[in-house]
Amino acid sequence: MSSSEPLVLGIESSCDETGVGIVRGHDLLANEVASSVEEHVRFGGVVPEVASRAHLQAIVPALRRACEKADVDLSEVDAIAVTAGPGLMGALVVGVAAAKALAVALDKPLYGLNHLVGHVAVDLLDHGPLPQPCAALLVSGGHTSLLAVNDITGDIVELGATIDDAAGEAYDKVARLLGLPYPGGPVIDRAAAEGDPTAIAFPRGLTASKDLVRHRFDYSFSGLKTAVSRWVETRRRDGLEVPVADVAASFQEAVCDVLTAKAVDACTHLGTTDILLGGGVAANSRLRTLLQERTAAAGITLRRPRPGLCTDNGAMIAVLGVEVVTAGLRPSSLDFGANSGLPVGTVLV
Ligand code: KG4
Ligand code: ZN
Repeated sequence: MSSSEPLVLGIESSCDETGVGIVRGHDLLANEVASSVEEHVRFGGVVPEVASRAHLQAIVPALRRACEKADVDLSEVDAIAVTAGPGLMGALVVGVAAAKALAVALDKPLYGLNHLVGHVAVDLLDHGPLPQPCAALLVSGGHTSLLAVNDITGDIVELGATIDDAAGEAYDKVARLLGLPYPGGPVIDRAAAEGDPTAIAFPRGLTASKDLVRHRFDYSFSGLKTAVSRWVETRRRDGLEVPVADVAASFQEAVCDVLTAKAVDACTHLGTTDILLGGGVAANSRLRTLLQERTAAAGITLRRPRPGLCTDNGAMIAVLGVEVVTAGLRPSSLDFGANSGLPVGTVLV
């Protein structure tokens, strides 16, 4: 580890995780995450006001813990990086306000960064410099996209995205209709391990040849969610037991089949032999395995961060901060606002 590499503090507060990460170069020094997920469980999804208040309570303790863990004094950091969007407005504002206060008090440069690009950048902590250009499959609770990453600090092109629900959202909704708790992704992942993925033939969205003309790299999961809902309702109406593990496994197979098939097709289209997997759903065991199998068969190298770095955290913002600092990009002006709809192509605000 060279001390000439930038030491960056990253703050993340776009949804229900308050994250503070400290990174030097590509070395992870601290990654403190305080989740308010327990407070949302009884509502079956994230309640924005509850998340905002939880960020306000958690942010300073998380910051203190991160500094202790990294054995870093705030005066030593070279830059502050913060998620500027996309995400829940009231939640983003807490992290942005904290980051601005730190930047002013410490007289450090501030970088307002894109959360989605952070999900891609986090792999640098596990596997070092990115092969660029490369493709990326970004799958989170709010977004599902196929990206051409030409330069992670400023040249990212979206090839396609979901036209309705995000993959994580589909997991969360299907879990809910199966009576499983929020967040549904990890619960379905576990339930599916006991089930038969071929038990029920659920639809694969936007894969028919007529859809591929206009939506070759786009996804759709709302039809799948409806199909699962109808299937479960029919069973219940007929007084039959719902085989939760089989439904979970068959649903998961439909999601992962389409995600991976289009990801491999995107690599072929781009002429790249490198793809990166990122976002909360990248923690999914079946997605990780199937994408590994299919990319390997196509001669493509897959990079996937360890599952613990896939869900929201501050380290992903800190390491993206390292990249923009190293690229010599200009810091954000102190009057920037949070942007709940920040497009993936805008890395730095
Ligand atoms: O990236 P993330 O932490 O937050 C957003 O930026 O949205 O993603 C959260 C999403 C949730 O929908 C959650 O159910 C899903 O990621 N997720 C998973 C798994 N772990 C988290 N989905 C499937 N399998 C998992 N193991
Ligand atoms: Zn996220």
